[in-house]
Amino acid sequence: MNPFVKIAVGILPMLGTALSVRAVENDITQFDIRVNKPGAEIAPTMYGLFFEDINYAADGGLYAEMIKNRSFEFPDRLMGWRSFGKVSVMDDGPFERNPHYVRLLSPGHKDKRTGLDNEGFFGIAFVQDSTYRFSVWARQVSDKPSRMIVELIEPDADGESQVCGSVKIKVTSKDWKKYTATLKPDRTVSKDGRLRIFLDSPEGVDIEHVSLFPSNTWRGHENGLRADLATLLAETKPGVFRFPGGCIVEGTDLATRYQWKNTVGPVENRPLNENRWHYTFPRRFYPDYYQSNGLGFYEYFLLSEEMGAAPLPVISVGLACQYQNRNPEAHVPVDSLQPYIQDALDLIEFANGDTTTVWGALRAEMGHPASFGLKYLAVGNEQWGPEYVERLTKFVDALRSAHPEIEIVGSSGPQSEGEQFDYLWPEMKRLKVDLVDEHFYRPEDWFLSQGARYDSYDRKGPKVFAGEYACHGKGYKRNHFNAALCEAAFMTGLERNADIVRMATYAPLFAHVEGWQWRPDMIWFDNLRSVPTASYYVQQLYSTYKGSRVLPLTMDGKPVTGAEGQHGLFASAALDDSTGHYIIKVANTSSEPRDVRFNFMGMRKKASLSEVRVIYLRAADKRAENTLDRPDVVKPYETSTTISGQDFSAVVQPESFAVYIVK
Ligand code: AHR
Repeated sequence: MNPFVKIAVGILPMLGTALSVRAVENDITQFDIRVNKPGAEIAPTMYGLFFEDINYAADGGLYAEMIKNRSFEFPDRLMGWRSFGKVSVMDDGPFERNPHYVRLLSPGHKDKRTGLDNEGFFGIAFVQDSTYRFSVWARQVSDKPSRMIVELIEPDADGESQVCGSVKIKVTSKDWKKYTATLKPDRTVSKDGRLRIFLDSPEGVDIEHVSLFPSNTWRGHENGLRADLATLLAETKPGVFRFPGGCIVEGTDLATRYQWKNTVGPVENRPLNENRWHYTFPRRFYPDYYQSNGLGFYEYFLLSEEMGAAPLPVISVGLACQYQNRNPEAHVPVDSLQPYIQDALDLIEFANGDTTTVWGALRAEMGHPASFGLKYLAVGNEQWGPEYVERLTKFVDALRSAHPEIEIVGSSGPQSEGEQFDYLWPEMKRLKVDLVDEHFYRPEDWFLSQGARYDSYDRKGPKVFAGEYACHGKGYKRNHFNAALCEAAFMTGLERNADIVRMATYAPLFAHVEGWQWRPDMIWFDNLRSVPTASYYVQQLYSTYKGSRVLPLTMDGKPVTGAEGQHGLFASAALDDSTGHYIIKVANTSSEPRDVRFNFMGMRKKASLSEVRVIYLRAADKRAENTLDRPDVVKPYETSTTISGQDFSAVVQPESFAVYIVK
């Protein structure tokens, strides 16, 4: 399906189209595109996604589980629950790594109640007549069977609650068993819904791992993802999928680093981890932010495969977050790294290993006997200094010797330039890592000053992975249109330098409107709705119209740099080998419209262009922003027209980004 709104030429919206065919005039910017000399391949991995569990991106977000603290493992065992009657927390449950559960006993009077309400993540939301899969592990407390009632509740304004759907569950064994039921609410509750479980028999019951998922998850997976959010990801056609972080990988301390082995196998037995974003920003403090690891490495690999993206896991290099740990003792000593290195080797086995291997067998048991085709592995996130280099060296040696087929991604630190960056790049070259991860959360003027950033990079060293970037507007750090436009302008430079830049991923990806710690972000959501930002559309346009090879392009005879005298214009060109189309991307960051001429050099003498489609992004206001209530303020429009000859002219509207697809 074409995701872009089509507009017939002649009935253009007030904003105007980015295209109008007109006679060549004098004051015109000329783009020469040499079509018979395609340059570097644009890597299939070029535009991708970076997922980190920040802003409730996993639990409460992409991971469709609706129950918070489902295993009663939060340090405050009943956090997220409101208990009533005779409820006690026990710690000898059936799941070794999640031993806590809850015992519900009769309150001793027929009119009294024992049970629990769960508040979900910022409430529980459900849709009328949709179905929800409830499950719970339970056992009788006595010799007799027990019953419980499960309800979906809508608290109303007067504090009275309405039951929107309910089901009875009979627990018939003294052994732990999984019980399942379907709930179908009779109305939609978009905010503050609850799940209630109460005992409905004189006999008590033990309950553990209480879970509620919408039946409609992405691709119907039981331990699934929110369909709307995963679909938005897939619709960017990502070439690479980096996970699980970010700072999450490092942990505030080593104990809370991301450990992939805790995120695979049966969900009931995946141990809880603290989420470092729960306390990172005191003004955005979320004491109930934990990682259930229900969305773990198996699910990440599967999602990568289903989106057609190359998986790119990031693993700990043995350094806890260096911002928060200046004390060398906070990190793993260089001579004690072996368990960490083994984790890396085992991860490759989990992803690619034969099903006769230990970790390959677990992958098969989880439902995927075939290899996940892992090719890339990042070692460390935003690490720096000799402490990083000496640790990375150990990983590189071990990985090269056991898995020369795996491409290693090293770090250039947290800054886009400066002392650490200048130290690390030569070190990464010396270690011969395959790609170097660069991060930049910078303001508008930085993005506009970087048009030529990669023109002078050494072509013989590692390739570049722009692994985390977003324009952070000066004094206005939001997902406004101008931030997206600056990103679009900057990305022309990535594309022109596709011989050295092989991957790029915007960050962060997701944010819950009620639970964010960091913005801007690419996609915002609440419990029922989601909205792509202007930055999302820029990423989607680049990825959808990536092309396969760079076409050399000049602006008025000069390389495009975005420098003074280039009228705030940025551009790149590509050839799509599969269609033979030429693709030109132009960002006009100035407030003036610009007449331009696209001249296709090197076409066969009698060949002629026949049609140009233009997909463009523009907004009435630079600060325009999509929100859940107004999701269509900024979105791409599409128009097309016939052309002939070997050139065509257009007006590039002020403050706009346009993709021309030329037949
Ligand atoms: O994307 C948010 C954070 O920014 C990432 O966790 C970290 O790598 C960077 O500092």
